[in-house]
Amino acid sequence: MKSMTVSEKSEAQKSTKDLALDFGRAWEYAPSPEATDHVKIEKRYELFIGGKWVAPKSGKYFPTVSPSTEETLAEVAEANAEDVDLAVRAARRAYDGVWSRMRPEERGKYIFRIARAIQEKARELAIVETLDGGKPIKESRDVDIPLAAAHFFYHAGWADKLDYAFHGRKARPLGVAGQVIPWNFPLLMAAWKLAPALACGNTVVLKPAETTPLSALFLARIIEECELPEGVVNIVTGAGATGAAVVDHPGIDKIAFTGSTAVGKRIQAALAGSHKRLTLELGGKAANIVFADAPIDQAIEGIVNGIYFNQGHVCCAGSRLLVEESVHDVVVRKLADRIKTLRLGDPLDKNTDIGAINSKMQLDKIRELVASGEKEGAQLYQSTCPIPQKGYFFPPTFFTGASQSSRIAREEIFGPVLTVMTFRTPDEAIEKANNTMYGLSAGIWTDKGAKIFHMATRLKAGVIWGNTFNKFDPTSPFGGYKESGFGREGGRQGLSAYVELDG
Ligand code: NAI
Ligand code: MG
Repeated sequence: MKSMTVSEKSEAQKSTKDLALDFGRAWEYAPSPEATDHVKIEKRYELFIGGKWVAPKSGKYFPTVSPSTEETLAEVAEANAEDVDLAVRAARRAYDGVWSRMRPEERGKYIFRIARAIQEKARELAIVETLDGGKPIKESRDVDIPLAAAHFFYHAGWADKLDYAFHGRKARPLGVAGQVIPWNFPLLMAAWKLAPALACGNTVVLKPAETTPLSALFLARIIEECELPEGVVNIVTGAGATGAAVVDHPGIDKIAFTGSTAVGKRIQAALAGSHKRLTLELGGKAANIVFADAPIDQAIEGIVNGIYFNQGHVCCAGSRLLVEESVHDVVVRKLADRIKTLRLGDPLDKNTDIGAINSKMQLDKIRELVASGEKEGAQLYQSTCPIPQKGYFFPPTFFTGASQSSRIAREEIFGPVLTVMTFRTPDEAIEKANNTMYGLSAGIWTDKGAKIFHMATRLKAGVIWGNTFNKFDPTSPFGGYKESGFGREGGRQGLSAYVELDG
């Protein structure tokens, strides 16, 4: 006879085990998908150049897929060097003719308008971000989109106060900025790049990542609706070759890049000896340092947020956990219990904690690095949560017992994979934390404020969180040491990347 599921049995038929299963299920969340019917994604998107939607001279289009369903969402124009040239010319005309001459307070009003429009369309933008990139809706809704709006608001305020930002020196815009951004925070990275450039009086050619172009194209619509003078912002879609065409264009005065260290190095080499200014925000392998005197349960939440947030697709992710030896076992036990409760699946579901990995390529990279960790003898802990049949998913994972020289301790995995190591003294923690080619961020967990300050001054990292992790604010400069890049984004410091100072 076919066995019955628990729910098919009558109350009298249920064993103690069945009742326990019922109880467990009572704690499950019912599906709660965000409605998508009010979001209209076009079949095809052209390039946004000189305030118009224009077909690419390349004649080519590429699909952008939803990584959680593997379905194609839209076809997007692929800009070649000729298209990029048109965009740069449009940006130059707008710079010379309008934007650099406009009174700064007028520029500020346009930027403010963009911020308001992002707020008004927040729900639509969050859905587009989640569909195209795979991140959970609760993150795009509560983190990405509000922060993108905040960046425009913040920089709208700076537009007419630049004289105060640089202590008596006169700030002049640079000209045309070429900006190439990645797929992990598509709209937020567009905001990080566009808002300071525009506030300082520059015009822009922006290239979004090829797996997540849609939110930037929705932003282009917003820019159109806000009636920015044509050519102030131009958006060219495409992959690495399009990015390289932006970098190589002689009509560009400044390049801002966020992405892999490998491509960052190539861009730096390409620009050597040219007049172009450059800022790079590259990879990371951040240490999250937990002392024995830390509030362990809070630290566990911080560790989870540090590495599993956005599937670990975060350049400043806390991907190396350094735990004081005496609390190693308890931290590992609590962490192993906690990752079992993370809900993985449909990114549009409001209860999903872990969404889809951004692309098949990234999933393959994560799998390969995790296999290397097992091969090198580290012990693997992994949630046994169900994995959807379709789409690119990877369960929350961590390793213990990895050596400092292993690949999982050194290389950026950019996935929900944490490497746990131990230390005995603060000096050893510093030495291990700094033992990396990167230096973007770090975290410190302890109940002693003085220890946080003492550690923070010796950590070679651009952003250091104390008793928290992955918190962002437009007023706070963000950027790296060593191979994590140079230059800062956000805050007063971020403005200097987009101005020339007289005097
Ligand atoms: P990537 O560096 O190739 O892509 C980032 C952006 O650069 C995209 O818009 C891409 O089209 C563009 N690009 C690629 N080649 C270019 C070139 N030669 N010239 C100009 N632009 C170019 O990163 P990818 O391949 O998507 O990811 C590889 C790894 O990079 C990830 O596994 C992760 O470790 C790291 N990464 C780091 C990011 C960060 O925020 N720091 C963001 C994305 C990836
Ligand atoms: Mg996509």
